[in-house]
Amino acid sequence: LSKQYFYREMLLRFLWLIVAVLCLSRGTNKRVARSPSQWSRTRKAIRIPTVSYSPTDINATALHEFSRLLRKAFPTVFSSSLVQHEVVADYSHLFTVQGSQPDLVPYMLLAHIDVVPASESDGWDAPPFSAKEIDNFIYGRGTLDDKECVMGMLQALEYLLLKGYRPQRGFYIGLGHDEEVSGLNGALNIVRLLKQRNVHLSFLLDEGLLVVDGVMKGLDGPAALIGVSEKGSATVKLSVTSAPGHSSMPPRESSIGILAAAVKRLLALKPETNAFSRTTTAVTMFNAGVKVNVLPSVAEAYVNFRIHSAQSLQEVLDLVDSTVGDQRVKVEVVDGFDPLPVSSYSETSYGFQIIKKSILDVFPQLTVAPGICVANTDSRHFKDLVADIYRFIPIWAKAGDAQRIHGINERISKKNYEDIVGFYFTLIQNCDVKELPETHSGVHEF
Ligand SMILES: *[C@@H]1O[C@H](CO)[C@@H](O)[C@H](O)[C@H]1NC(C)=O
Ligand SMILES: [Zn+2]
Repeated sequence: LSKQYFYREMLLRFLWLIVAVLCLSRGTNKRVARSPSQWSRTRKAIRIPTVSYSPTDINATALHEFSRLLRKAFPTVFSSSLVQHEVVADYSHLFTVQGSQPDLVPYMLLAHIDVVPASESDGWDAPPFSAKEIDNFIYGRGTLDDKECVMGMLQALEYLLLKGYRPQRGFYIGLGHDEEVSGLNGALNIVRLLKQRNVHLSFLLDEGLLVVDGVMKGLDGPAALIGVSEKGSATVKLSVTSAPGHSSMPPRESSIGILAAAVKRLLALKPETNAFSRTTTAVTMFNAGVKVNVLPSVAEAYVNFRIHSAQSLQEVLDLVDSTVGDQRVKVEVVDGFDPLPVSSYSETSYGFQIIKKSILDVFPQLTVAPGICVANTDSRHFKDLVADIYRFIPIWAKAGDAQRIHGINERISKKNYEDIVGFYFTLIQNCDVKELPETHSGVHEF
């Protein structure tokens, strides 16, 4: 009996200790990210080389290792009765978090596990898969794109569940494994699964834009840009075929000359046409010739367009045809898709305003504005499932930082990572609000 009493006493003391710890950490969202064990897990995530080389060349070993790391790093997420976890297409993950109020339409958070290749010989200050710390920055491929997001979301959820939090509004967390090479296996299969289940989403938040600080001209102070659309893309192949010949007897116009003139006309268009100038044109490959004294029979060039939301793929293709305007130049479309629809960002847009509020809760000094993503994300696969798609992570980018994404010396400051965890921690709780509060006398108080 006394032994039983002893155990009960110990259990009570232990419970009090937990309560004390929870009370201490209330209100300081960031404390969770500061725990040393969480840091070591985030760095482990960076060290796993989940590189996507092409849609058919991914690192299965690394992706499996990453799955094991997630289970170890977030034991509460994986054991909670509120969370259903599924592996999708072998390496992607879908977490379904149950809300206590089924009439609230769920939302979705999206991130990706894979990264683009990186080689130390390109001039990194630390090996790209070392997660080495230099001056309070963690260096490594994936620190900005997109493992800070993967780990940040799950860490926020782990912490909330540990605190005994129960969301009122249900939500999904989707982690794709092949975003960098199209997302056709990961994200697309998550979409299929949700469609089969007839899931409706109020909004979706993915990576995309960030906090810009001293990057944009004419903008005083740092601003958070929430991506409400993504540019479309088109790759066009131009080719000219002519009779081969010897360079000693050149015709008036060679295949190279005809092609170069056509490409020049396309590039010259840029400053003239306003609508077109907002779509970018880049010649990415130019091939002709095999021998110094032979006139090539074929010359070809590939031109890549990034299509502004105000234009369609068809408009761009029509413009290419009319601009080239030369029967001898064959125009072929290699691939392309329209810009993504523009998501709502008005005062009454639930998703936009909740994200905005969460940004301001964590970073009161920021200006928040909508923007357009120049790159594409996994979220484009969700466009039939949800109208309001937003693209934002509170990565704090100063001049030159954007080049680190997919470039050398990708890194994140420890403080920035803590703020990202704090942002998701705040966002999840803010989403329990059923409706946006009324705005009074033109002042937006929310
Ligand atoms: C794949 O990942 C494993 C670690 O999980 C690593 O040892 C291996 O070098 C990686 N392979 C390539 C080609 O990157
Ligand atoms: Zn990314």
